[in-house]
Amino acid sequence: MVLPPPRSPPPLPQGHPNNNVTESIYERMGRNLHLTPNHPLNIIRTEIYKYFDDNHPGVFNKFDTYAPIVPITANFDEVLVPEDHVSRSSNDTYYVDDKSVLRCHTSAHQAQTLRTGETAFLVTGDVYRRDTIDATHYPVFHQMEGVRVFTKEEWEAAGYDDGTKFCDEELKKALEGLAKHLFGDVEMRWVDAYFPFTEPSAELEIFYGGDWLEVLGCGVMEKQILDANGRDSATHRAWAFGLGLERLAMVLFEIPDIRLFWSNDERFTSQFKDGDKLGATKFKPYSKFPPCYKDVAFWISEQFTENNLCEVVRGEGGDLVEEVKLIDEFTNGKTGKTSNCFRITYRSMERSLTDDEINAIQENVRSKIASDLGVELR
Ligand code: PHE
Repeated sequence: MVLPPPRSPPPLPQGHPNNNVTESIYERMGRNLHLTPNHPLNIIRTEIYKYFDDNHPGVFNKFDTYAPIVPITANFDEVLVPEDHVSRSSNDTYYVDDKSVLRCHTSAHQAQTLRTGETAFLVTGDVYRRDTIDATHYPVFHQMEGVRVFTKEEWEAAGYDDGTKFCDEELKKALEGLAKHLFGDVEMRWVDAYFPFTEPSAELEIFYGGDWLEVLGCGVMEKQILDANGRDSATHRAWAFGLGLERLAMVLFEIPDIRLFWSNDERFTSQFKDGDKLGATKFKPYSKFPPCYKDVAFWISEQFTENNLCEVVRGEGGDLVEEVKLIDEFTNGKTGKTSNCFRITYRSMERSLTDDEINAIQENVRSKIASDLGVELR
């Protein structure tokens, strides 16, 4: 495979009042894990492309190098995300300035790619969301978007007068086939869902390892998006889906912690090879180092959010932070003040941590919490 030249992130406008992109997020931009040879995310991406190419030769064009800084209009407005939707808040999304964000989903490229005249495409890239911290949540992860446009001639030739119904059935066939391709002969179910950009919408779940696992979101593209991007909805319909690559890779390769995808440790990277048969390679843990727990309690204020706390903790502790969890909450009857106690779990996946280094990190976390989050330490 010919790799595109490494993409270094464009300089972020410093000091814009809306900018909430931290140093540790900035460092992740341009890593291109989904294009890194022998990386599990690259293996999954390739495998999904292969499924679509084998079943629909020559139909899908692929876009893997769209930059993650996108106009706010592309991330939200063009996919009909309502003005007051939570995902627009700076608590959930990284804003670069008052015009651009780090995309929070690959759906940010639907409209733009339609406008360039593409009719069937797959877009893969890194997406960014402010969130809490645990083994399956990381503020940067990777998604693949799929879109396929059909014309009236196509659904009529297949004996349908209802384009939406045709499209919905095509979508479900394609995605059930994909799930089989990835997971083998598993039980599946469709669950109703809501997305602003599709109607009807659904999520596909598979029964795997004793649990129902959500694999992807999808639906029939809202007509308004077709009309706004050069496809008259009187004669066109499209399906769209979006899936998270880490989620699939964690299940298929039995990777227990999402931080591992970012590891340069050879004991991780040497375990995966492009071309490996899916399901044959399972991650072999090299060892589990002991965790170190630190609790921090404070009186919260109006503006306190857990996402902001997690950003501070990640900023100081980096990938040594395994989990941040609320373990106690109460309100003082007299003062009306509410106290939160969070337990931070520190653990390296590569080595044992010393008390001294964790104490030093925890001291920094405490002073940052006090200075940046407007709370009162207890
Ligand atoms: N963008 C949605 C998400 O991130 C997934 C999705 C894509 C749903 C396309 C429907 C159609 O959750």
